[in-house]
Amino acid sequence: MRELKVFAGRRSRDLTAAICTHLGITPGQTDIFKFKNDNTFVSILENVREADVFVVQTSCPPVDDQFMELLILIDALRRASAGRITAVLPYYPYVRSDKKDQPRVPITAKLVADLITTAGAHRVLTLDLHAQQIQSFFNIPCDHLTAGPLLAEYFKAKQLPAPVAVATDAGSANKARTMARRLCCPLAVMDKQRVGNTDSVEMTAFIGDVKGRQCIIVEDEVSTGGTLAHAVRTLLDQGADEVYACATHGLFVGGAFDRLRTMGLREMVVTDTIPQDPAFVPENVRTLSVAPLLAESIRRVHSGDSISDLFQD
Ligand code: R5P
Repeated sequence: MRELKVFAGRRSRDLTAAICTHLGITPGQTDIFKFKNDNTFVSILENVREADVFVVQTSCPPVDDQFMELLILIDALRRASAGRITAVLPYYPYVRSDKKDQPRVPITAKLVADLITTAGAHRVLTLDLHAQQIQSFFNIPCDHLTAGPLLAEYFKAKQLPAPVAVATDAGSANKARTMARRLCCPLAVMDKQRVGNTDSVEMTAFIGDVKGRQCIIVEDEVSTGGTLAHAVRTLLDQGADEVYACATHGLFVGGAFDRLRTMGLREMVVTDTIPQDPAFVPENVRTLSVAPLLAESIRRVHSGDSISDLFQD
């Protein structure tokens, strides 16, 4: 069998180290830096000839820098004769740009897929895409994992007396429904509308009964926290006892931490797909690690075992 090797982009080094600990290997050695002219340089410091190589790079600000670094890493691995290259994308770049919903706009998530393939990736492993259909942007195999079971187990362990899973819009209704099924609890759904291309949102409708209950808002990502702030206010106005939230990806940009401290949210649970500086993270934010899930998925891709078996409830 080909040798398994896991390399990291610079913003995914901690996550990659945790993945490698689970796999019982050491991360692949690289030299990555920027020249004074802002060009990125990558050198693979070990033999990868015919190896089964996984390269982990998430998307976080500066998004274009992280993405370019990923493409350059893949190119370097391909030219070093790696046998198979899998791009591991804990948070997919430009994931929300997944459709042409206005005149004359790009579908940047599709462009990202084309560029990853052109750079030389043979497979993709990613986590909780904003829309399932993004998998079809690839003509190479794309394994789409979910942190749903991890988040559900966390809330199950809390033994909340009367939980209710809440979706902030139709787009997140599937995720919230799955959480409701895992927790054996009811579902509530809101209707959220974004104001133009801004970060502002309006809550326009609400279906469900949350009075006296512990609400768990289920999202794929939290960006500025604007959606959450509106949702928490709506739920407390409807008589909710407490409001929790969970999301796979905690981007936390544009004043999100200030909002999280003041919006009346009991706890926000995210995963470590995006690195955070613990010095700035509010006390009500809890981070769970997806390293065991990614490590097990990498092991299964490497050995040809089933990934879907991982998600049988
Ligand atoms: C979008 O539809 C996503 O599911 C989230 O609701 C969105 O990314 C949250 O963004 P923000 O935190 O900026 O309101």
